[in-house]
Amino acid sequence: MALTGLFLSFFLIIHLAGNLQLLLPGESARLQYNSYSQLLGGNPLVIAISFVLYACIILHTVDAVYLSFKSTKANGISYSRDRRGRASTWYSRHMMALGIIIFLFLVIHFKDYWYQYKFGDLPLDENGNKDLYTLVMVSFEKLWYVILYVVAIIALGYHLLHGVFSAHRTIGLFHPVYNRIIKVMGIIFAVVITLGYILIPVLIYLNHQV
Ligand code: HEM
Repeated sequence: MALTGLFLSFFLIIHLAGNLQLLLPGESARLQYNSYSQLLGGNPLVIAISFVLYACIILHTVDAVYLSFKSTKANGISYSRDRRGRASTWYSRHMMALGIIIFLFLVIHFKDYWYQYKFGDLPLDENGNKDLYTLVMVSFEKLWYVILYVVAIIALGYHLLHGVFSAHRTIGLFHPVYNRIIKVMGIIFAVVITLGYILIPVLIYLNHQV
């Protein structure tokens, strides 16, 4: 769970950096984003890493479902007054619910972008690359679609907030002195990822309005 989660967190940084190009001004942004996507999509090493990524998403999901079943079975008690809120945060107790929101988001995300890019009939730009840029831009003209992204990304942010901190314990890095530093770094990571991803659909939507 921890290792697949850390790999997925690393992917989130690379994916954010690539997609921030959508916010560049002018017509050249379209050609740049499309050739960047073409460069990645055609690189054998990146294609191999993509398969590791898909495997990590599946493993992380299957592991989460398995652990959740195990802990429900082990706890088996229903509390008349649930006082767990005093010892843990609400998001650490609802990692499964947050994970389900992220999973549903990924189903939509893969259908609308990944599938269209790999197997769809996208028009080509002036350089002969698939025009992924226009596909993404047009999708964020719709307010409901932007809201869907913002909700999913906030769920991702809370999921990361707990996930990064608990992962370092799982892989054996628990140490009283470093705990605080790791916790602060985890918070900074979750906030930067959340704000960075939210900025993309929101700014594209607002740009369409002016
Ligand atoms: C608002 C921000 C986002 C934009 C504009 C965006 C855009 C895209 C696009 C255009 C693709 C298809 C092309 C490609 O395969 O690279 C893609 C793939 C993907 N996205 Fe996103 N994405 C965003 C946020 C996210 C988030 C938050 C996650 C994770 C929770 C995510 C996970 C993925 C994954 C796993 C793939 C497949 C990558 C691959 O095939 O190698 N994306 N995204």
